[in-house]
Amino acid sequence: MPLFQMTGLSGAGKSSLANLLKDRLLTMDFKVEIIDGDEFRKTLCADLGFSKDDRIENIKRLGFVANLLARNEIITIIAAINPYNTARNELKLLYNAKLIYVKCDVETLRKRDTKGLYERAFLPENHPDKIHNLTGVNDTFEIPENPDFLIDTSEENLEDFLEKVLGFVLAKS
Ligand code: ADX
Repeated sequence: MPLFQMTGLSGAGKSSLANLLKDRLLTMDFKVEIIDGDEFRKTLCADLGFSKDDRIENIKRLGFVANLLARNEIITIIAAINPYNTARNELKLLYNAKLIYVKCDVETLRKRDTKGLYERAFLPENHPDKIHNLTGVNDTFEIPENPDFLIDTSEENLEDFLEKVLGFVLAKS
C-alpha cells in the first residue's frame, strides 16, 4: 500500500486532515495508520530536539516505521512538519513516499494558534517563554520542490479539501 508523507507548518492541519482521511478510508475497508510527529516525539523520538540534524533524524525514523506498515497492506500517512527537502527526498527515494504539502500562511496560523506556539515565537528576544526555533517563524521551512499534491488550508476549510485529497490517495492505493 502507498506511503504518504505530509509536510507543512505546525497548525496547518496535517494531523486533522490525516484523521479525516483515515475515517473515510476505514469506511471503505482499507487499513490505515497515521504516523504523527507529535505522538512520536513523546515516544520513539523523545530524545530528539528541533535542530536540523534532529528534525532530519526524526523523519528518517518516522519513514522507517511507516514503511513497515505500508508494506503490510496498510495505507500509511506521516503527519509531521518535515521541513527539509533532503529528508523528504530520502523518503521518496527509499520508500516512494508521496509528498502532500499542507500549505498555510503564517498570518493565518498566528491567528489560529491552537497550541500557543506562534504567540511565543513572536515574543521579544529576551522574554523567558520565547521560542527561538519555531518552523516558519524563526526556523527553516524549505518550500517543497515537487509535491505530489498541494492543498492550501488558509483558503478553505479541511472538509472542502477532503474529497480532492481522498481522490488522490485512492488513485495511489
Ligand atoms: S519535525 O520538524 O521534526 O518534522 P514534528 O512534526 O516531529 O517536527 O514535531 C512538530 C511538533 O512539535 C509541532 O506540532 C509542535 O507541537 C511541537 N514543537 C515544539 N517546539 C517546536 C519548534 N520549535 N518547531 C516546530 N515544532 C515544535
